[in-house]
Amino acid sequence: MSVSEKAAKGNRVDETPRLGMETMKHSVLVTRQIPGESLQRLREVCEVEVWPEAIPPSREELCRLVKGRHGLLTMLSDRIDGELMDVAGEQLCVVSNYAVGFNNIDVDAAKTRGVVVGNTPDVLTDATADLAVSLLFAASRHVLPAGNQVREGEWKTWEPTGWLGVEPSGKTLGIVGMGRIGKATAKRLVGGWGMNLLYTSRSDQGDVEKELGGRRVELDTLLAESDFVSVHVALTDETRNLIDADAIGKMKSTSVLVNTARGEIVDQDALVDALNRRAIFAAGLDVTTPEPLPADHALVKSPHCVILPHIGSATHTSRNAMSEIAVDNLIAGLAGKPLRCSVT
Ligand code: DGY
Repeated sequence: MSVSEKAAKGNRVDETPRLGMETMKHSVLVTRQIPGESLQRLREVCEVEVWPEAIPPSREELCRLVKGRHGLLTMLSDRIDGELMDVAGEQLCVVSNYAVGFNNIDVDAAKTRGVVVGNTPDVLTDATADLAVSLLFAASRHVLPAGNQVREGEWKTWEPTGWLGVEPSGKTLGIVGMGRIGKATAKRLVGGWGMNLLYTSRSDQGDVEKELGGRRVELDTLLAESDFVSVHVALTDETRNLIDADAIGKMKSTSVLVNTARGEIVDQDALVDALNRRAIFAAGLDVTTPEPLPADHALVKSPHCVILPHIGSATHTSRNAMSEIAVDNLIAGLAGKPLRCSVT
């Protein structure tokens, strides 16, 4: 059923939901507790069920929970494909993802079913760029293993040759994917540490070159010439395993790899191998595949790899703002209005 057919069948309303009671007939599922006050706003205009656990619903549970819903407010850990949309039913009209990334949603399947999809861009750019910089420093200065040495009572003495790291000042930064977060990360490191900038992008970014003196290059050149490589592309079929053994093989042995985008972009086996052989200096990852990565995974065990539990956007400011946008998107979608931030 198309969007207009759904509207004609009365699944959507024309007036804004904040003004009327019409949407009370709508039922939505929110697949996790989200911070801030916005859920209250949602409860005023429709029936809301929130998955109460910290662990996401299983596929089976999700299938049971989506049945008959008009809207879904989903997390990046929920796989929302055509099958799930069909289980939800024809009345489903909006999926609002609580993330800027939407690789967990089959957008084509949504389009063919007349389901609009929203995301939460912009409001997490600074938080994620801050974390990329934190990871860059943590990985290049052994921050976690050195701190653990103290915590475990293993710190014996100040060592002239202990914990030697690498410095970014005046070195070359390679940004893979010069979108909003890539740009914010580059601004911090070029402005703060005087780094030279190389980047990859589908299109020339005149403003970046003007403001930051960056040079757009092919990925191979970026990998070969950069001292620090930070990954910021969206996960698509094209970028899955973009940083594979071949790509890592082009990096300098003194270089540091940072990934705050999606785990699937980096071939983790190749990364383990490179770190073990000291073919690159270190890696800092906020994202892995799977998430969580098992504690006995070789990357978790590696002293040259810092792994965080996907906390790029985890600040009060960002997550509250994400809640506002996600709820605005959901309410707009139920009302048949354009979403505040749409990906369809
Ligand atoms: C996103 O929004 O895509 C991040 O990965 C989580 O906030």
